Formats: sequence, C-alpha cells, structure tokens
Amino acid sequence: MTRLDGARVLVTGASSGIGRAVALRCAAAGAELVLSGRDETRLVEVATATGGTAVTADLSRPGAAAELAGLAGPVDVLVCCAGAGLAGPFGSDGAGLDALVRLNFTATVELVRSVLGTMRSSGRGHVVVVSSVAGRLPVRDEVVYGATKAAVDHFAAALRTELRGSGVGISAVAPAGVDTPFFDRRGTPYRRTRPRLLRPEKVADAVVAAIERDLPEVVVPRWLRLAYVIRALLPRLYDRLSHRLD
Ligand SMILES: NC(=O)c1ccc[n+]([C@@H]2O[C@H](COP(=O)([O-])OP(=O)(O)OC[C@H]3O[C@@H](n4cnc5c(N)ncnc54)[C@H](OP(=O)(O)O)[C@@H]3O)[C@@H](O)[C@H]2O)c1
Repeated sequence: MTRLDGARVLVTGASSGIGRAVALRCAAAGAELVLSGRDETRLVEVATATGGTAVTADLSRPGAAAELAGLAGPVDVLVCCAGAGLAGPFGSDGAGLDALVRLNFTATVELVRSVLGTMRSSGRGHVVVVSSVAGRLPVRDEVVYGATKAAVDHFAAALRTELRGSGVGISAVAPAGVDTPFFDRRGTPYRRTRPRLLRPEKVADAVVAAIERDLPEVVVPRWLRLAYVIRALLPRLYDRLSHRLD
C-alpha cells in the first residue's frame, strides 16, 4: 500500500489525456510531481496546475528513459502513461514500428528498471503501467498496438511475482477506449458504440486505486473482465461473440 500524500510521483505522458488526469488526481491527493511529455507548452500547463516539475523527453529515443529517471531523481511512485496507437489492417500499419515498440514497451521496461533499485532498497514504492484492453482481448486493426500493450501487461504481472515481499508493488491498468487525443493522433477515430468512450478522470481514479490498494490489475470499465473470463474458459464462444464487437 502506498500513500500518495507526500509521495514523489513521476508520471509519463503527463502532457495530455490520461497522464494529465493522473497528474491532477495525484496532486489533489497531496503528491509531489515530476511530469514528463514531449510538448513543452502543454506539459508546463499541467506542471503549473499541479505545482509539479516538467521534464520534456521523447521516450521513443534510445536511452531517453534512463535519462528521464536520472533527471527525476528517486521517486516513490512511477506511472507509465506515455504511449501511442497504431491502427489499420495488419500489413498496412508498418510505418513507425520500431518507434512504437520503443515508446510503448521498451521505454516502460527501462524506466521501471531505473527506478526499481531505489524502491527496493527503501522497501517501498509502486509502479503503474497503463496497458490497454486491446492488449488482452484481440482487436482487429490494432494488431501491433495490442501486442505492445500485451507485452507491457505481461511484464507487469510477471515482475509482480518477483517483487512479492519486497514492499514494492506494480499494477497494470487496462482501459478500453478513452476520450483523449489518442485517436486523432493515430489518425483513426474510435468507431465502437460499446464500450462507450471513458472520461480520462475515470482511468485516473483506477490508477490511484491501484497505487493506494496495491491492486495487481484494474480493467476499466470493470464489466469487461467478463470478456476475459469468457475468452479464457470458452475461446470458441468468445471468437464467435467477438465479431459483434467489431
Ligand atoms: N485513449 C484510449 O482509448 C486508450 C485506451 C487504452 C490505453 N491507452 C493508453 O493510455 C496511454 C495514454 O494515452 P492517452 O489516451 O492519454 O493519449 P494522448 O492524450 O495522446 O496522450 C499520450 C501521451 O503520451 C505522450 N507521448 C506520445 N509519444 C511520446 C514520445 N515519443 N515520448 C514521450 N511521450 C510521448 C504524449 O506526449 P505529448 O502530448 O507531449 O506528445 C502524451 O502525453 C497510452 O499508453 C495509451 O496507449 C489509451
């Protein structure tokens, strides 16, 4: 269990969407923030609103994650929110693959590795990775994006087994569609009627719950966990039903 009041929290992707909402929510809970993103103007706006420190970084650049961790200094909590989408039928979505994997997966692993030593030696701390429902349920036209999120998800779950008893926790928060600039940036709108687009504040609440209650994972909205269960127990039924979600 990690208290946010007085904790030093590093949030990546804090210049927009979910990361911005997480930053505002953590500041309201009394955290001291280090905020990372690429767009300096938007990042400084969030830093001003939260009393946090802004550190710009392009996390798709090799070495950037370790540099960011060095600039941030020791933190009690790390929230890895920076990420981007890639949409389109497999084969037409190839551009930017390396950068996408570096941003969505490699930078997350490197950041966690960079902050974990201090957390372990102090016997406390918490990491949250923002994965995606697309990393757990197969979603057409998000094949590669979903795979990067599945990798992050599995990384967090497996690392949690190694951290047992260390006082350090790690959680994965897996949202469905969230109303942020994510879709404009990837160039393809959100087309589903269900699940409805979530507000980023709802995901921020899930991130805070994961930190404060040391939850292994949080799916937002919660009812989608039912789809995981059906897929795990009855894969052929899931395969048939999932066409209705497409
Ligand atoms: N929106 C959804 O439906 C949804 C659903 C499930 C999971 N997610 C995940 O949630 C996370 C946040 O997404 P969002 O919806 O909040 O999208 P967003 O509003 O587009 O925010 C993305 C954030 O990531 C940062 N970022 C992007 N590329 C970066 C790079 N190369 N280096 C450093 N930072 C970079 C952006 O920084 P700048 O703005 O400064 O460039 C921004 O702060 C992502 O990991 C996404 O995969 C989103």
